[in-house]
Amino acid sequence: MTTYNVALNFEDGVTRVIQCEDDEMVTEAAFRQKINIPMDCRDGVCGTCKCFAEKGKFELEFYLEEAMTEEEAAQGYVLTCQMSPLSDCVVRVPATSAVCKTAPEPVAGEVLGVDRLSETSFGLRVKMAKTMGFLPGQYVNVSVPGTDKHRSYSFSSKPGADEGQFLIRNIPGGVMSSYLGERAKGGDAITLTGPMGTFYLRPMERPQLWLAGGTGLAPFLSMLEHLAEQGNDQPITLYYAVTRAADLVELDRVQALAKQIGNVTVITVLAAEEDAHERKGFVTDHLSANDLNGGDVDVYLCGPPPMVDAVRSHFGTLGVEPANFYFEKFNPTETEADAA
Ligand code: FES
Repeated sequence: MTTYNVALNFEDGVTRVIQCEDDEMVTEAAFRQKINIPMDCRDGVCGTCKCFAEKGKFELEFYLEEAMTEEEAAQGYVLTCQMSPLSDCVVRVPATSAVCKTAPEPVAGEVLGVDRLSETSFGLRVKMAKTMGFLPGQYVNVSVPGTDKHRSYSFSSKPGADEGQFLIRNIPGGVMSSYLGERAKGGDAITLTGPMGTFYLRPMERPQLWLAGGTGLAPFLSMLEHLAEQGNDQPITLYYAVTRAADLVELDRVQALAKQIGNVTVITVLAAEEDAHERKGFVTDHLSANDLNGGDVDVYLCGPPPMVDAVRSHFGTLGVEPANFYFEKFNPTETEADAA
């Protein structure tokens, strides 16, 4: 018996990951993990449980044409009460997380430590009271101890661990930065609510191009940690772009993971004029049509909004559209009100 991860994407942008055995139906596995995918007959007769399989291999047991037509099945629709996975899968559920009685869950945590990685970034380590079923790349809302505020950060650690790690940009005067820089101490109570977000690593079926801007490296660290454990047979090119040389944090960890996984190329790019580096400028100054493999590539980008826009228009200039382009724009700054 093999257990696979099935990511359920709900209409409201919430994603939950369930574990489903290869002889188990997705609706049953979801129900076991307290998620009620809408269903009625459970026999492949009514069509109530119809969803859309975005990725992965699976088997469908018996169902009637009235429940799902051949044409729908050919398009990728599935009856989840008759679906058992043959690989990790991604399934789009045509209902909100509230309808399915699942919502981001608060998990109590305790600060283990804060690492000053550079002038511009912190590492935060949190011990969670229970593990959170997130996919590599997803984020959580992290409470700011001593305030009623929270901030959203991607995990930089591997899914399934009871220690959550985050890479956090130091924003002078920012509410989280002030906490991390001035008041944080081991044992502080902190709450993580999630997981959230649709920026996560899909089953890998083609070469990968990963683009990280600054602390946008965090989700890629989680993906690398995941692959170091699960294995990987696709080539990965990771561009890690920062402003100054001192901002290249966690590079040793990235390179060690790259070596462990194999077939991972790490390319750093530096924007600041005054710092010497073999590749200067922006990612778009170095990304070539070669990196896009004739379009047969999955692109993942996590960085500030201008980087997302620049890369998208660069693809247009190169005249190559990647098979998939997943991105996460992270908020570059906190507002004055937030910082107060
Ligand atoms: Fe009726 Fe799945 S619940 S077809």
